[in-house]
Amino acid sequence: MKALITAGGRGTRLRPLTHTQNKHLIPIANRPILQYALESVRDAGIRSVGVVVGIDNGKEVVDWLGKGDAFGLNVEYIWQDAPLGLAHVVKISQDYIGSEPFVFYLGDNIVVGGIERFVTAFQQDEVDCFLTLARVHDPERFGVPEFDGDGKIVGVVEKPSEPKSPFAVSGIYLYGSAIFEAVNAIEPSERGELEISDAHDWLLKNDYRVGHGEITGWWKDTGLPGDLLEANRLVLSTITPSIAGSVDNTSDIAGQVIIEEGAEIIASRVRGPAIIGRGAKIVDSYVGPYSAIGPDSYLQRCEVEYSILMDRAVVREVDTRIEGSLLGADVEIIRSQGKPRVQRFILGEQSRVEVV
Ligand code: TTP
Repeated sequence: MKALITAGGRGTRLRPLTHTQNKHLIPIANRPILQYALESVRDAGIRSVGVVVGIDNGKEVVDWLGKGDAFGLNVEYIWQDAPLGLAHVVKISQDYIGSEPFVFYLGDNIVVGGIERFVTAFQQDEVDCFLTLARVHDPERFGVPEFDGDGKIVGVVEKPSEPKSPFAVSGIYLYGSAIFEAVNAIEPSERGELEISDAHDWLLKNDYRVGHGEITGWWKDTGLPGDLLEANRLVLSTITPSIAGSVDNTSDIAGQVIIEEGAEIIASRVRGPAIIGRGAKIVDSYVGPYSAIGPDSYLQRCEVEYSILMDRAVVREVDTRIEGSLLGADVEIIRSQGKPRVQRFILGEQSRVEVV
């Protein structure tokens, strides 16, 4: 069994963060989004992984992941000239996959709880395609499966105005070789992409066996940068606390908190779930639930909650609690003159804000 993981695309919905960064490297609980996909497939016993990258922003991924040794994986890269759709991704990966069954995993998806049981179900059910489904409150934003009276999938409709079930097809699929017939048979959609839902529909129409399983704890970027905060919350709610950094005796750490090596907590309160990255320094501050403070960040006399701060972010002497915010690498928010009331920040790398 092999895995195919996507790390291309444009990431337009996560701008401005994706102006300067491949979206798969944006940190969630201080780990690049892509790391969750890599660990999921590894934990399911898969070692051979093809990572699909775009020619415009793929190098960053290669620099970070290399041959995959750090994750115990054997990674090869498949370069996509342009983001021409998920079925196009599968099509250009046929040589890499050969005749083996494989997991197709969208690298911007996060699944808490792993995918091993789906790999097992796919093998036991002897199907050509296995879709993982998640119950969602807004299926009209996703590919939605339609079932017959026996609970078998009979069709998948992309973003239907009247969804026929409360499920979305998530970004983790398992395939046998028949998927290559499908992606080679379908035509580009109106938006000019080879759609994976069309490939699934083709398999169904041509009497291939399509199985399914329900997934819980699934996250997919659904549009707004604030959705990253939801992913961060999902992951942080599963962490095991550990303290490798230093905490002085005037500080108070409560709940599930990870304090990484070299981090310093001085005269501060950290209330988990939260993670404080390597070399970060928290002085006279409060870090509240669902916060991820990136490596080498610096917080002084401020309050941060339900936020993601990336590497080397600085927040200094800001009176109002910062909440629901994303600060890119090297962003600074520092005290200015005047009276602050409330602030909400979504900032790309190297942005700098002075609070009034
Ligand atoms: P999407 O989220 O559908 O697209 P995107 O990443 O380009 O984002 P946006 O719509 O905001 O511009 O992509 C899902 C996953 O598939 C993601 O990991 C990117 C990847 N992808 C490719 O690698 N190649 C492609 O041609 C497409 C469409 C997506």
